[in-house]
Amino acid sequence: MRPNFFHHLHPPTIPAAQARWRYTLGAGGTAVFLMLVLLVTGTIEMFYYVATPEEAGLSIQTITYLVPFGGLIRNLHFWSAQLLIIVSAVHLMRIVFTGAYLPPRRFNYLLGLALFVFAILLNFTGYILRWDTGIQWALVVGTNLVKTIPIFGNDLYRILIGGTQPGLATLTRFYAWHIFGLMLIAAILAVWHAFRVRRDGGIALPPPALRTNKERISRFELVRREVLAMLLTDAALIILSVFSPAPIAAPITEITTLVPDARAPWFFLWVQQMLKWGDPFIWGVLVPLMVLAILTLIPYIFPKPIEGELGRWFPRSSRIAQIVLAMIASLIILLTILGGLPVL
Ligand code: HEM
Repeated sequence: MRPNFFHHLHPPTIPAAQARWRYTLGAGGTAVFLMLVLLVTGTIEMFYYVATPEEAGLSIQTITYLVPFGGLIRNLHFWSAQLLIIVSAVHLMRIVFTGAYLPPRRFNYLLGLALFVFAILLNFTGYILRWDTGIQWALVVGTNLVKTIPIFGNDLYRILIGGTQPGLATLTRFYAWHIFGLMLIAAILAVWHAFRVRRDGGIALPPPALRTNKERISRFELVRREVLAMLLTDAALIILSVFSPAPIAAPITEITTLVPDARAPWFFLWVQQMLKWGDPFIWGVLVPLMVLAILTLIPYIFPKPIEGELGRWFPRSSRIAQIVLAMIASLIILLTILGGLPVL
């Protein structure tokens, strides 16, 4: 068989140990696929979405209920975005729990982390575009957190929402960030990240002399496995889209009647939960930034994994980094569950 374009994205053969599901979980590749689904479904939605406060909520209803297959496209876009956050978080954990951030992959760890942040920002800006009563926490409390930043807070808030209170300028800005600004940077980061995986010698393994398994697989086999992962992801997306449609609520008609006590989007429930503890700057801005700083510093401040221990889960040499990440992840999951419990 002659290699096609997709085969040529990979080297002719790679060590079989680099392509084990149980090692990579296929999470990086699945994240790439989800980004492609987002790009295609988002472009289709743009033909019908109207980015003005009067029309936005109504145009989402038109897409959902009137446009042929519009509901399916919107649900696929919604679920790919949610899965992208989950799959990138799983990928991040696999990188840390296998010590794969060891140089020369340290820079790619940072590129990946930046991609993760962009996946969250894209989700948040897309969520605002619904402009219905379900997004009030994000629009009111979420954006007001910026105001709590000392000295620059008020100016940053005005830059973010385009005025002193949410309105047409806010929607225009979030739309521009969502469909172009953030998207463009995320696309560049994703291509760079994938290029660096290959440039750094593929998925992390011990040096050749220390490898026990010398077997190699061809790029045909690799692409076959990638297609299988894509089909499974596609099946999951379609099942979720059919049985659990994306949320929709009544369009926002009057900006002054917004109530701030509504629920945060699920990926910020942990922040909403912490805000109950007091100072919004400490709990809503500083603590999330500290979490990001710790994740950024993992390859720099904790004992490094040793090369001979690469290619498997939980190497002894990088235990501290694993424990720190496990603690952060457990706390975030716990706070998310608490934040998601029904208010009595
Ligand atoms: C949207 C987000 C992301 C996409 C699309 C993505 C994509 C990929 C792909 C396709 C691979 C190769 C296959 C694999 O390891 O599964 C990979 C590897 C890698 N990624 Fe990501 N990634 C993302 C987020 C992240 C995050 C959050 C981190 C860590 C902070 C990260 C760090 C790495 C590293 C260090 C490698 C090399 C792994 C190794 O050599 O074992 N990536 N990524």
